[in-house]
Amino acid sequence: MITEITMNKLDTREFIDKKAQEISSAVGNGTAINALSGGVDSSAVTMLGHKALGKKLKTYFIENGLMRKDEPRKIVNIFKKLGVEVEIIDAKDKFFAALKGITDPEEKREAITQTFYKDVFGKLVRESGARHLLQGTILTDIDETVAGIKRQHNVFEQLGIDPQESFGYKIIEPLVQLRKDGVRKVAQALGLPESIYDRMPFPGPALSARVIGEATPERIECVRLATSVVEDILKNVSAFQYMAILHHDRVTGMRNGKRDFGQQIEIRCWDSIDARTASPTQLSHDILQQLSQRILSEVPGVVSVTYHIATKPPSTMEAV
Ligand code: XMP
Repeated sequence: MITEITMNKLDTREFIDKKAQEISSAVGNGTAINALSGGVDSSAVTMLGHKALGKKLKTYFIENGLMRKDEPRKIVNIFKKLGVEVEIIDAKDKFFAALKGITDPEEKREAITQTFYKDVFGKLVRESGARHLLQGTILTDIDETVAGIKRQHNVFEQLGIDPQESFGYKIIEPLVQLRKDGVRKVAQALGLPESIYDRMPFPGPALSARVIGEATPERIECVRLATSVVEDILKNVSAFQYMAILHHDRVTGMRNGKRDFGQQIEIRCWDSIDARTASPTQLSHDILQQLSQRILSEVPGVVSVTYHIATKPPSTMEAV
C-alpha cells in the first residue's frame, strides 16, 4: 500500500533529502541508470538521482522517433546547463519496427513498453552492469493502470510483473507517493527551470498516442508538425494541455482544383485540475481559425481540421 503525500503535507527539502538518502543506500557501491524523457517526472528523478549518486548515475535520452520536434537536443541542453550529462540513444528504427502493422491502442502501448524496457533499455542496463533503474512513476499512473483505464507504460508491480524477473533489474520509484502537483513542486526545489517544472503533461507513448491507427514514421511526422503548430499558437493560453491528433480515416478535400483524399487533424485543448476530469477550453474563433490556417498550410496532406468539444468523461484526454 502506497501512502500518498498530499500537497499540504509535502516539505520539498525534507522529501528531497529523504529520497536522495534512500536512493543512495539502495544503490550502494553499484551504479544506476535512468531514462530521461524531458517530462517533469523523469526530469525530477534525474535531478534526484544526480544529487544522490553523482557519476554513479548514468542518464540516457532514448530517441524513440515519437518525440516532439527538436525535443532530444533541447532537453539534453537544459540538463547540460545543470551539470548533468545525458547520452542520446538513437532507437528510432527499433520502435518503428515494433509498431509496424499495429493499430490497437493497447497493443501499441505494449509494443512500446516491450521495446523500451526489454530491448533498448534492457540492453543498456545489461551492458552497463547497473542493477538499478530509477523511474518517475507517480501515484496517478498506478491508480489509472490498476483501475484498468489505460495501461501506463511504467507500471509493473501492481500488475503482478516482477521487473527483476522480467527484465533483470530492480526499479526504484522515488516519486510514487506524489501526484503531478507535488512532483512540480519538488522539481522546482531541485533547481529545474520553469520550462520543465511547469511543463504541460505529455504521454509516455509520446506521439504514438496521438496517431489513431498505425504509427508509421510518415504519420508520426504529420502529427509532429501539427503538434508544433498547436503548441506555438496555444502557448499563451492557460489550458491544462493541448494537442494535435491524426485521424485514421481520410476525408475528401480539394487542392489546386483537384480532389485530394486527405488527412484529418483534430485539435484538443483541455481545462483540468488533475487530469481525472476535463472540459474543452473555450478558445476564441480567431484562435481556432489561426490553428486551421496554419495546419492546412504547414502540414502536408491535411484537408480537415476539427476541434474536440467533448468532456472527460466519457472522452479521455488523449485519443489513443
Ligand atoms: P487520458 O488520455 O488518460 O490522459 O485522459 C490523462 C493524462 O495522462 C497523460 N498521460 C498518458 N495518457 N497514456 C495515456 O493515454 C500514457 O502512457 C500517458 N502518460 C501520460 C495524458 O497526456 C493526460 O495528461
